[in-house]
Amino acid sequence: MDRESIQERFGIVGRSMALRNVIDRVRQVAGTDITVLIQGESGTGKELIAEAIHGLSARRHQSFTIVNCGAIPEGLIESELFGAEKGAYTGAVERRTGYFEQSDRGTIFLDEIGEMPPAAQIRLLRVLETGQFTRVGASQVRKVDVRIVAATNKDLAHEVRAGRFREDLYYRLSTVLVEIPPLRQRSEDILPLLKTFLHRFAQKYDSPVKHLSDDARELLLRYRWPGNVRELRNVAEQIEVLIRDKEVTARDIRPYLRGVRTEQDRSELLPVVRKTSEDSADARERELIYRALFELRSQVRRMWEEMKKRGPVPGDGPDEYPPLIEDVAYEIEGDEDIGLRSSENVGNGRQKVQEPEKAHDEPEEEVAEEKETFPTLEDAERELITRALKTFNGNRRQTARTLGISERTLYRKLKEFEEDL
Ligand SMILES: Nc1ncnc2c1ncn2[C@@H]1O[C@H](COP(=O)(O)OP(=O)(O)OP(=O)(O)O)[C@@H](O)[C@H]1O
Ligand SMILES: [Mg+2]
Repeated sequence: MDRESIQERFGIVGRSMALRNVIDRVRQVAGTDITVLIQGESGTGKELIAEAIHGLSARRHQSFTIVNCGAIPEGLIESELFGAEKGAYTGAVERRTGYFEQSDRGTIFLDEIGEMPPAAQIRLLRVLETGQFTRVGASQVRKVDVRIVAATNKDLAHEVRAGRFREDLYYRLSTVLVEIPPLRQRSEDILPLLKTFLHRFAQKYDSPVKHLSDDARELLLRYRWPGNVRELRNVAEQIEVLIRDKEVTARDIRPYLRGVRTEQDRSELLPVVRKTSEDSADARERELIYRALFELRSQVRRMWEEMKKRGPVPGDGPDEYPPLIEDVAYEIEGDEDIGLRSSENVGNGRQKVQEPEKAHDEPEEEVAEEKETFPTLEDAERELITRALKTFNGNRRQTARTLGISERTLYRKLKEFEEDL
């Protein structure tokens, strides 16, 4: 089945390269029994992808069992998964079969696998390696034929390093790793997804399909989408249900987005690269760089705010972090009309938001881990400063403003880099 048919069949919307890669991966592995680990932030579509893997496999007429490892009490998880003999533990009044036995010949989707306690991890490893398990409190070895798809919104490799997840199990699970990037890194998917959801909800509520004004689209494209596709779906529902006018403006939708409730509040906005006709690989690369710069800058600023809470920070003058509230648009040499908007980001703007399906709440420490591609902040900073300088042909003023630091700070940093060499 080709990519388009798969998307159509499972309702997977999007046209970004990142999503296409995910679907290609699904195509490659679906027909096999290989264990798959799906990694992605909350709301990126891990369950949808797991369903597609099962639905495209030879097991599709057998059961697809979803087990949320984070929702089962720690003391019960082994018996839930593998079953228990009568009297195996307090409260085990009768013999019960576990999800593995019930899913024989089917697929088990182990959601939030990072939450699995150590004892259950050992049993799981054994099933993966031998297809064998025992019920809790039993000695009889049983065999089962189950395909495992696991998912996590944590960085499991990091959990391994932190000693919370077994390394051997990690390697076993991640034979095939499917990474679903957050929505903010695949902004091409935003409008197609929105269109689909608006149509869906218009049908559901028997209301006319809302039309978005240009400024509304721009806002949605710049929004950081901390809750990813799930959040977008909820916003689409609110637009359809709560907004009266058929034409929806940025002003109308601000109340439904976090951290952008007023025009001044930009804490959840990303810089946007305006494109005219150009859609070259170059432009896309530049956009990625801008976004990386922005994310780093936000991260540095969050740390700076944290430090400030704890006491005076060296260089805490008006010229230092955080940068001035301003909009700057740059013309980049050789490109017509490509402007970079740099925006203010005070605090982190994260709030707890009620969602019908699940309360979305990202712990702060995970935020810092999100961009773990760089070994240390210093290295990342150096790398990005170097790249930004290159992008702006060595223009320090533009580089400093893009990074949201004063030129003085930039000079100081460049000097530090030189001294380090
Ligand atoms: N590419 C997509 N196209 C259409 N709908 C999508 C897409 N990605 C996600 N969704 C929808 O967004 C919602 C959230 O997706 P899903 O439950 O699969 O996310 P998740 O990664 O499992 O989240 P969590 O980590 O919170 O469990 C679902 O309603 C799903 O159908
Ligand atoms: Mg899920």
